[in-house]
Amino acid sequence: MTSQHQRVLSGMRPTGALHLGHYHGVLKNWIKLQHEYECYFFVADWHALTTHYEDPGDIAGSVWDMVVDWLAAGITPGEARLFIQSRVPEHAELHLLLSMFTPLGWLERVPTYKDQQEKLKERDLATYGFLGYPLLQSADILIYRAGLVPVGEDQVVHVELTREVARRFNYLYGREPGFEDKAEAAVKKMGKKGAKLYTQLRRAWQERGDGEALDKARALLEAQQNISIGDRERLFGYLDGGGKVILPEPQPLLTPAPRMPGLDGQKMSKSYGNTIGLREDPESVTRKLRTMPTDPARVRRSDPGTPEKCPVWAFHGVYSDDATRAWVQEGCTTAGIGCLDCKQPVIDAVLAEQAPIRARAQEYLEKPDTVRAIVAEGIDDARQVARDTLEEVRQVMGLSYR
Ligand code: TRP
Ligand code: SF4
Repeated sequence: MTSQHQRVLSGMRPTGALHLGHYHGVLKNWIKLQHEYECYFFVADWHALTTHYEDPGDIAGSVWDMVVDWLAAGITPGEARLFIQSRVPEHAELHLLLSMFTPLGWLERVPTYKDQQEKLKERDLATYGFLGYPLLQSADILIYRAGLVPVGEDQVVHVELTREVARRFNYLYGREPGFEDKAEAAVKKMGKKGAKLYTQLRRAWQERGDGEALDKARALLEAQQNISIGDRERLFGYLDGGGKVILPEPQPLLTPAPRMPGLDGQKMSKSYGNTIGLREDPESVTRKLRTMPTDPARVRRSDPGTPEKCPVWAFHGVYSDDATRAWVQEGCTTAGIGCLDCKQPVIDAVLAEQAPIRARAQEYLEKPDTVRAIVAEGIDDARQVARDTLEEVRQVMGLSYR
């Protein structure tokens, strides 16, 4: 069994074709993680609907494209589970249940709430659904009891909110009469050695704040084969006092800021119109790179330039080796090479990077049934985990009528 702290969950909103910025930022990271953790990656179609409820057709059109993009980039179905949020309705039920005890102020204070309303002025985001956006995200994460959530900088606040919601949930519903006695009984079930070690580590954490001991105690609990889920939760909670940990607090796994520049030197982003599509056709990619701006001081071929003032130089930073970069420095500052000469190695490298991605995408586009089957399987796996969590949540919230 892979432990819940090893479970990774992340989602992406289907709002258009992915570009090389997504590839170098998010996807390469996911591809690495899928070999290290039990990964769940999903298309956040409900999240897209919170802002694009007036044009749902755009979302539907992007969902399958996005899955194809992921697969083409190298997400492996055997390694990661891929699914679509709205096909796992358990997210929605958990969202509703979390909403019962989440103070309005927590949501109103999330900075993305006001920021996005400002940014997307043309859309009316004074809606109930949009206010709930980060709580829906909390449900996405907590329903899998994910330990790690790979996100960009802007999303860290949402993971932090999730931690607060989890803490409040455990506080409200993790209490049970006789908790201490039950926890002590659970300690004994670990066997002599395990019990002794747990007790020592717990003391080291509670008396001296030894964080390493806490980590070790958690690892010890995860490795236990013989205790029930309920006892495991008690023992997790007992480390901190409190009660059972039914919904563990996730950690953000900050995605390193993408080094990928856009065609104009700003960060690559759809809203700046400076992107290269993940599987854009080679002619178009070549044309975009050949016409992209260079150091404005290099008006004529004979004018020397400054690479640091040129967006092409940023591309060399991503795609070129030291020798090529030295060649650019020398050639640009002495007017020894022209800008088209300078761009050629970048063009070659981008096309080479995209060739296998494009080929894989083509394969999947020719076999839409395969893509659907991959997602169907991901949905099945996701629902199994989600149902287990929800059953427990219903139970402690007094909703399991039988
Ligand atoms: N809000 C995220 C974004 O815009 C997408 C998302 C939805 C997500 N649910 C999630 C990311 C859960 C991580 C975990 O990028
Ligand atoms: Fe930019 Fe290269 Fe032209 Fe220099 S030679 S201005 S680095 S494109």
